Amino acid sequence: MRLRFFTLLCLCCCWFVSSEGETVSCSNIVSSGFRSDNISITDFGGVGDGHTLNTKAFREAIYRIQRLTRVGGTLLYVPPGVYLTEPFNLTSHMTLYLAAGAVIMATQDSSNWPLIAPLPSYGRGRELPGGRYMSFMHGDGVQDVVITGENGTIDGQGDLWWNKWRQRSLQFTRPNLVEFVNSRDIIISNVIFKNSPFWNIHPVYSSNIVVRFVTILAPRDSPNTDGIDPDSSSNVCIEDSYISTGDDLVAVKSGWDEYGIAYGLPSSNITIRRVSGSSPFAGIAVGSETSGGVENVLAEHINLYKMGIGIHIKTNSGRGGFIKNITVSHVYIEEARKGIRISGDVGDHPDDKFDPNALPLVKGVTIKNVWGVKVLQAGLIQGVKNSPFTDICLYDINLRGVTEPRTPPWKCSDVSGFAHQVSPWPCSELSSNQQGSCANYS
Ligand SMILES: *[C@@H]1O[C@H](CO)[C@@H](O)[C@H](O)[C@H]1NC(C)=O
Ligand SMILES: *[C@@H]1O[C@H](CO)[C@@H](O)[C@H](O)[C@H]1NC(C)=O
Ligand SMILES: *[C@@H]1O[C@H](CO)[C@@H](O)[C@H](O)[C@H]1NC(C)=O
Ligand SMILES: *[C@@H]1O[C@H](CO)[C@@H](O)[C@H](O)[C@H]1NC(C)=O
Ligand SMILES: *[C@@H]1O[C@H](CO)[C@@H](O)[C@H](O)[C@H]1NC(C)=O
Repeated sequence: MRLRFFTLLCLCCCWFVSSEGETVSCSNIVSSGFRSDNISITDFGGVGDGHTLNTKAFREAIYRIQRLTRVGGTLLYVPPGVYLTEPFNLTSHMTLYLAAGAVIMATQDSSNWPLIAPLPSYGRGRELPGGRYMSFMHGDGVQDVVITGENGTIDGQGDLWWNKWRQRSLQFTRPNLVEFVNSRDIIISNVIFKNSPFWNIHPVYSSNIVVRFVTILAPRDSPNTDGIDPDSSSNVCIEDSYISTGDDLVAVKSGWDEYGIAYGLPSSNITIRRVSGSSPFAGIAVGSETSGGVENVLAEHINLYKMGIGIHIKTNSGRGGFIKNITVSHVYIEEARKGIRISGDVGDHPDDKFDPNALPLVKGVTIKNVWGVKVLQAGLIQGVKNSPFTDICLYDINLRGVTEPRTPPWKCSDVSGFAHQVSPWPCSELSSNQQGSCANYS
């Protein structure tokens, strides 16, 4: 019955309608009131001609917001125009408002780009040892920050950085487009993110984060341009967004090997819904950096096109940490190398000090109501030898190949759990009569 209803929805192309018939949303996770104070970047000498460097204008406007605190906070208005600038810090109780036609564009001159310390849960920059370039927009220890408007654009002009990466001429890890560290009560909505040098939106050690009605774009061949990466963060809600980049669309993380284990801050209570997009890597990902643990993730109503892997849960020996209580449901995949992959041997290590006996725990992953067409390989579940994945539950899954009707069979090892109405049939490791072990997580 469920499957039939699902199929019907699929045929109607009505994927954004919840099958329960009601629209749930994350609008109540962060409340932000009306900003009575409204200043414009032009009051600080901002010029939107695409050439003038506006670093001073942005830093002074934000300094003014920080120093002259107004009840209800301040809105910083960016009128239509192209505002070139170096990176800048955000401050608490502010709204950065991009009018229709407003573009905040990162300078391509990286010589003055500030360096900041590596994240303690990574021990070094993600790409290279040592510090890392500060994100284009950076919030450290802030609260009540909104980035919104009328779908103006934040443009990272990443090609300079991608080329340096390709030529191996970078000294430090590339900047994210927007990063919040140790922050809370953040809303990012109605903004277009374009050509990030590295990951697009990176909340880390943060809580109560809402990202909705955003568009994130980067070329398919741009390296490491993840869409949204909640990292050691809790109560994060991502919805109603389109993401098409060169790497994972959404990847939930929590630190890297011995550094992430020592820091020990999980990502928890992460909701992802009504997200669509395209990527040569994963649509919905957990990992591979999960050393602080990841739990209570719900991803639903996800539409993926021309993918590397639809759903990818990834970890490695040496990671430690845990991946628990992950639910992914109502996913439509059209064209993918692999539909579903849960793997225990993915991702690199920060250095050779990682403990190979720090084995990850993967328990309670439910993937249901997945419909895929033109999927080259349905699925792959490879647990860790001395730490098999348990309570892995698959049901109502139909992944069709390019040559109808079947894709090659699943491959499984070191896994136990339950499967029901899965086509092609997954593998003998997943039994069809353990309803009990699945029920806790469905
Ligand atoms: C803020 O001020 C600008 C003009 O500087 C105006 O166009 C805009 O509508 C104002 N926004 C709000 C929310 O008051
Ligand atoms: C921005 O924040 C970073 C990290 O907190 C800090 O190192 C840097 O000095 C700040 N830069 C400015 C211009 O305030
Ligand atoms: C901005 O884009 C979002 C997502 O595409 C869309 O839902 C919204 O209506 C747009 N808002 C405006 C003001 O154009
Ligand atoms: C996650 O959500 C649960 C249930 O709503 C809540 O009890 C818990 O405190 C939340 N965790 C965090 C870290 O906020
Ligand atoms: C599992 O995660 C869901 C969110 O997807 C949450 O509602 C539920 O409370 C969690 N279950 C447990 C046992 O923590």
